[in-house]
Amino acid sequence: MAGQKIIKSKFFLEDDFLETLAEVPAEEVGAWKPDKKLKIVGAPVSRVDGYDKVSGTAQYTFDVSLPNMAFAKTLRCPHPHARIKSIDISKALKLPGVLAIITHENTPKIPWYYNTSYLFDPHLRYLGDEVACAAAESEEIAAEALKLINVEYEILPFVTDAKKAMEPNAPKLYEEGNIRGGKPSVYKRGDAEKGFKEADAVVEDTFTTRVAVHNPTEVHCSAANWDGDRLTVWDSTQAVFNVRDALARSLNIPANKVRVIKKYMGGGFGSKLAPGKYTVMAAFLARKIGRPVKIALDRKEMNLAVGNRPDSVQKLKAGAKKDGTLTALSHHSYGTVGSHPYGAGCSWPLRTVYQCDNVYVEEYSVYTNAGPARPMRAPGHVQGTFAMDSLIDEIAGKIGMDPLEFRLKNYAEKDQVSNLPYTSKRLKEAYKKGAEAIGWHRRSQPAGSSPGPMKRGIGMATQIWWGGGAPPAYATIRLNRDGSAHVMAGTQDIGTGTYTFIAQVTAEVLEIPIEKITVTLGDTGRCPYCPVSGGSLTAPSVSPAVHHAAQQIKAKLISGAAAILELPEDQLLYQKGVISDKKDPSKKIDITGILRKMQEQELIATGARNANPTGYTINTFGAQFAEVEVDTETGRVKVLKVVAANDIGRVLNWKTAENQFHGGIIQGVSFALMEQRVIDQATGKVLTTNMHDYKMPTVMDMPEIEAYVVSEADNMISSVGAKGLGEPAHIPTAGAIANAVYNAIGVRIKSLPITPDKVLTALQKARRVS
Ligand code: MOS
Repeated sequence: MAGQKIIKSKFFLEDDFLETLAEVPAEEVGAWKPDKKLKIVGAPVSRVDGYDKVSGTAQYTFDVSLPNMAFAKTLRCPHPHARIKSIDISKALKLPGVLAIITHENTPKIPWYYNTSYLFDPHLRYLGDEVACAAAESEEIAAEALKLINVEYEILPFVTDAKKAMEPNAPKLYEEGNIRGGKPSVYKRGDAEKGFKEADAVVEDTFTTRVAVHNPTEVHCSAANWDGDRLTVWDSTQAVFNVRDALARSLNIPANKVRVIKKYMGGGFGSKLAPGKYTVMAAFLARKIGRPVKIALDRKEMNLAVGNRPDSVQKLKAGAKKDGTLTALSHHSYGTVGSHPYGAGCSWPLRTVYQCDNVYVEEYSVYTNAGPARPMRAPGHVQGTFAMDSLIDEIAGKIGMDPLEFRLKNYAEKDQVSNLPYTSKRLKEAYKKGAEAIGWHRRSQPAGSSPGPMKRGIGMATQIWWGGGAPPAYATIRLNRDGSAHVMAGTQDIGTGTYTFIAQVTAEVLEIPIEKITVTLGDTGRCPYCPVSGGSLTAPSVSPAVHHAAQQIKAKLISGAAAILELPEDQLLYQKGVISDKKDPSKKIDITGILRKMQEQELIATGARNANPTGYTINTFGAQFAEVEVDTETGRVKVLKVVAANDIGRVLNWKTAENQFHGGIIQGVSFALMEQRVIDQATGKVLTTNMHDYKMPTVMDMPEIEAYVVSEADNMISSVGAKGLGEPAHIPTAGAIANAVYNAIGVRIKSLPITPDKVLTALQKARRVS
């Protein structure tokens, strides 16, 4: 408006965008201390995207449909181990409707799997390995085209079992042999041998777990579209920026030419952390034919090619004094990582959950001719906790001590590996709350003593995980003149409620209604950088960045109001977007008024996640308690109830936190009782490639779930003080169930999943012995 005084606050004068990206200390302005009463954050706020989801209007990558879009299908190796001698695509290209076919012969050698292989590698290491990819007018035509590709394979000997793969004469997947790195990974502290000698009781046992497959509801899929030299890719991914960078690298174009979008996603659980081959293939094909290309994997491909949790054979040993003091722990394990490099280690819980000075660990990651392993919800910790906490129950039993008391006796006050203190640890409180809620005193004493064929038991396990979050993570808030706001962050909501907590944090700081906030995520073209949505680090990394951005907006408003009202800032009161004089409340101005007077259309601020404190370990902690009923005539285990009690710092949203507890525990019940990938060792074929053969629970298998959070804000981490929950909720379930089964029947099942045949066999064996 002409003639009006333009007022710029100090923030505007120094409005250097980059400056706002600097790391800020944890003690930042407006930090939410534990005693700070919050209105929206922490409350059970319904998901802001709930309507979109239940009404079917939410667009998942699988739903993406572009004008003139072509569809692609992948030809996969029908042998567990082979080399391509020749490949002929000429016949397939002649099929009407076929648009292009890519193979190792007509695409650049793009490094894949940590440079051990290529996007298309003529050395095929598993049944399902990518051979070629055909784009056509329809998926059906693409599938037909694959049948017309003539591949001559040199069939190689194969191995699918980790133990056999380690034998000297086993077929080799890599020059170096089948043990990744040629040797085990070793960890030691103190002197385990000495520790075992000092023990009054020693137990040793072997535990096994099977390969599990993520099987998220939404299949892995990508759609790619070129506009000149600019590429847009819609991808079902946990990491839009990782995918952007992988595409830029693979296509040899700068990152700014690539935009990756993920709006909604039907689960990933770790299988969508790394960029997919199908994504890069879609981009190549789209460029080749000058049309958008979409690739959606089918359920069989999901079960063969996009990741799994390694299996494990874990030999554990523990020594303890009569008073319960642990004197030594050791862990020898091997597990299959499939066709490409990944770690099968699972000893971390044993290294660090309990106080123990003498620890020895040796773990082998073994290549086999099967689909590559990938991170899966708390990689290693799920298998490792099952074994460790089974053994802890055994040794507690051997010295005649209550398993919970034993755990308290060996409570680790410090991080056992780094010897650093924790920023916060409320595990004792979790033990207490969980034990109370399940009724720990009701346990069958001794184990297996409950009468009749239906035996009940109660067991527990402990959880440790990282999940403190870290920089870099940024969020930008644009506050409009009408008091509505738009928040943008390059994180992604993988189904966990990210949209919602971002709206909540913004609403809390700016005191504006949540309905007036729009959140845009998962778009590298519009949002500032955020890390992968994995490792339970999304909420603890992103929420402080949003908080920081909102604090800056608020400061800009206060500074603007001070100039307009000609009052010192500390005399002003900010309430629901209205700033008034503390002394004379009739002197006030709202957001619209401030922006108008400043001649600003919007206020913009980018917040950054602060650095974590040095000299501390940030971990999440928890315990789960399970009650089961075992039918000793059929061997069937029913999980009746699971209680979880966790230290996750500040809860951002009680409803979505409870969702995490439920999801994690359900997946834990599934891992404990049902899930296993089965491979026929004679043919190398995976026999469980659909949702019928790969067993997962239904609503009929669900236990009653009770969840408690025993922590408050951890302000040593951030202004918000939240820690992660996605993985913590899943880690101890299988261990708690296994211990509950032992408590019910008095016989220990050392092999997951605990299927009826294993229960019956173990019971029969126990009867024969006694
Ligand atoms: Mo998780 S395995 O970090 O998605």
